[in-house]
Amino acid sequence: MSIGMSVGVLGTGKYVPEKVLSNFDLEQMVETSNDWIVTRTGIRERRISSPEQASSDLAYHASLEALKNAGLTPEDIDLIIVATITPDMAFPSTACVLQERLGAKRAACFDLSAACSGFIYGLATATSMISTGMYKHVLVVGAECLSKITDYTDRNTCILFGDGAGAVVLGQVPEGRGFRSFVLGADGGGGELLHLRGGGSRCPSSAESVASKKHYIYMAGSEVFKFAVRIMGSAALEALDKAGMNKEDIDLLVPHQANIRIIQSALEKLDLPEDKCMINLDKYGNVSAASIPIALAEAVEQGRVREGDCLVFVGFGGGLTWGASVLIW
Ligand code: ACO
Repeated sequence: MSIGMSVGVLGTGKYVPEKVLSNFDLEQMVETSNDWIVTRTGIRERRISSPEQASSDLAYHASLEALKNAGLTPEDIDLIIVATITPDMAFPSTACVLQERLGAKRAACFDLSAACSGFIYGLATATSMISTGMYKHVLVVGAECLSKITDYTDRNTCILFGDGAGAVVLGQVPEGRGFRSFVLGADGGGGELLHLRGGGSRCPSSAESVASKKHYIYMAGSEVFKFAVRIMGSAALEALDKAGMNKEDIDLLVPHQANIRIIQSALEKLDLPEDKCMINLDKYGNVSAASIPIALAEAVEQGRVREGDCLVFVGFGGGLTWGASVLIW
């Protein structure tokens, strides 16, 4: 894909709920141990939203920070894309709820569903729309309240997930900077491995759907793990190739934060030392579409991103889906 006008990130923001759920807390809830969770996943704690908080509430705070850092107001935004698998409700979209709360009156709005790859899908969509001249400023948000769809009696899943939101404002940047490539992929044949079946048109919500726990995430963990290990390195390499760059050019890898062993396998394929990778899953766990923008916002906060740096985003998730992108900061 060749991108016309240079489109890049004008501002980043993040928000995580205050409540911390540690591995030691989980030891009291299911048969697991801090040692098992840290060794098998790298996660030590995750944030959990309050009963009153929904994804749009987390998105709101992250968006305000991204707008502030971009030096823009809500009225400057032409389009809001919210990537989420935990929308406030089936409809209206979480993007519409967010628009109203922000007062972003001029913005068109939609949600995007590509699970943990959703933020990269959102970046690609926004970049295309800006580079054609259709929109000037697009707010792309990854926001999740995964705790609301997690079964806290299932040790296979409840140790992994957390809540939070990350946001970016995209717009035109000087030539030589901005997004250089996108790789988006899907394998619908793998949909069974990771799904939430209840509440849709195939299996509407009912007393039976709730009794059989269809309103919770189902995951075939080790199958998803194998897919992730296969796709993370190869998608990142494909994005670099499309950008006319190679793995030696990477200054910072910002991967989806699912499991430290998955990230380490990607680092091996890319011959990249760990200090060139943003890792914060120990604090937040897997926040699906919010993982990458939260990691990016923290990398910026920590001064780990400098003008001209080559950033690579890469993620995978339910669908199955995957995505990767190269960005010159
Ligand atoms: N505590 C203690 N033991 C556990 C736990 C736990 N929390 N969970 C599983 N085990 C046990 C299993 O029962 C199994 O026991 P057995 O050998 O007696 O049967 C053993 O530990 C090993 O289980 P595996 O599933 O093989 O463990 P694995 O090393 O694969 O780790 C994990 C499991 C962490 C889930 C891993 O497979 C993984 O990270 N998969 C990818 C998940 C992922 O990234 N999903 C992203 C989806 S997000 C989205 O799109 C919404």
